[in-house]
Amino acid sequence: MTFKSVKGTKDLLPQDTVAWRHVEETIRVVMELYRYGEIRTPVFEETSVFTRGIGEETDIVGKEMYTFVDKGGSSLTLRPEMTAPVIRSFIQHSMGEQAVLNKLYYIGPMFRQGRPQAGRFRQFHQFGFECIGQSAPECDVEVIAMAAEIFRRLGIHSTLKINSVGDPVCRPQYREALQEFLRGVHDSLSPESQRRTESNPMRVLDSKDERDREATAGAPVILDYLSDGCRDHFERTCRMLDALDIPYTIDPRLVRGLDYYTMTAFEFVSTDLGSQDALGGGGRYDGLVEQLGGKPTPAVGFAAGVERLLMVMEKTQYQFPASAPLLYLVGMDDVSRSWVFHKAIELRQAGVAAEIDYASRSVKAQMREANKLGCPFVAIIGEREIAETQAQIKDMRKGTQESVEFGRLTEYFTTLRQREDGGQ
Ligand code: HAM
Repeated sequence: MTFKSVKGTKDLLPQDTVAWRHVEETIRVVMELYRYGEIRTPVFEETSVFTRGIGEETDIVGKEMYTFVDKGGSSLTLRPEMTAPVIRSFIQHSMGEQAVLNKLYYIGPMFRQGRPQAGRFRQFHQFGFECIGQSAPECDVEVIAMAAEIFRRLGIHSTLKINSVGDPVCRPQYREALQEFLRGVHDSLSPESQRRTESNPMRVLDSKDERDREATAGAPVILDYLSDGCRDHFERTCRMLDALDIPYTIDPRLVRGLDYYTMTAFEFVSTDLGSQDALGGGGRYDGLVEQLGGKPTPAVGFAAGVERLLMVMEKTQYQFPASAPLLYLVGMDDVSRSWVFHKAIELRQAGVAAEIDYASRSVKAQMREANKLGCPFVAIIGEREIAETQAQIKDMRKGTQESVEFGRLTEYFTTLRQREDGGQ
């Protein structure tokens, strides 16, 4: 019997994690620039954090959650997203009382039991950020700008779609107008949308089914129903995006798959992805803190799928930084093999990535290996080198060679590494 990873989950092997770490480090650098602090919450929560937070009528809560009852009889759920857990934690630790604005980010695994397909997994990873405490449209714009900046640094081209989904004051009127329209075209809608007409009519606009697209072409749009406050917020957000030269298209049909949004809703999409074209999305959610038992607190945030970012980067042949050992120490015989083994450990202790052979292979085979690994420096150690206590360091990129005293090897490579790091 052989085992395989569960459908919709993936092993990340060393050749994959190089790219992952690069993406994660890029995110952390940008987060540091914008002064966001990292938050890590447990991978499971009480189920009601999500049912109350995301909304009972959403696909996530209705169909996709990994929910189980533990031995103590509690209903727990593997987190399908991070906004609700972050807000749960925000309330639990009274963060709102300690600062007028809390800027938090996260990177980690999420779980959704959807139908696995290209770009859709059951365990996937999100990075995201939540700006909690202020209602200024500057916060919405900053969140969008951060996402755009991360995509830019990773060479990802995307389109930003933006909409306002109103607030609890103006949305009911729109909902009613939309429902009335949908009832009028009931027979042309897909069965799912017929059901949603009553339960969650705005999601009908988001349907990918051609029948729904055609039937709803003339549906009323929310932008015509916004209250003055929501309209002003939306217009100011758009004006600031213009001023920052962040291109966007207004998509009045954009409704996100989570119920907590108020006002700004946005999504970054990429043509380099298939039908699952959303790289990431977010928006304002001014009612969520209260919904989860805290004091009314405005907030806005964003999250993207790391796998999807990497899919785009692979497609566009993004050049990930190489991760090769700095030095390959080739041992010619048993004595020099033992010498290189000890020297390699000494070098690594001093912070120099060194590689050696463990299989008593020929010098030629070791050289081939060094080449394959892309080591920029190679030293061949034999009887003569040991007798003279000198290593001939070959610079594989320049094709030059330099003689370095054994006692100076560590210093030689640490200063060289510092020079290279400084020059980057
Ligand atoms: P979401 O749109 O549900 O939003 O997910 C954000 C991103 O996670 C998606 O655009 C996609 O890239 C990725 N994603 C979602 N499901 C999967 C999956 N099954 N497989 C692979 N990738 C997936 C949220 O989760 C909100 N919490 C975003 C947010 C933060 N809103 C405010 N703050």
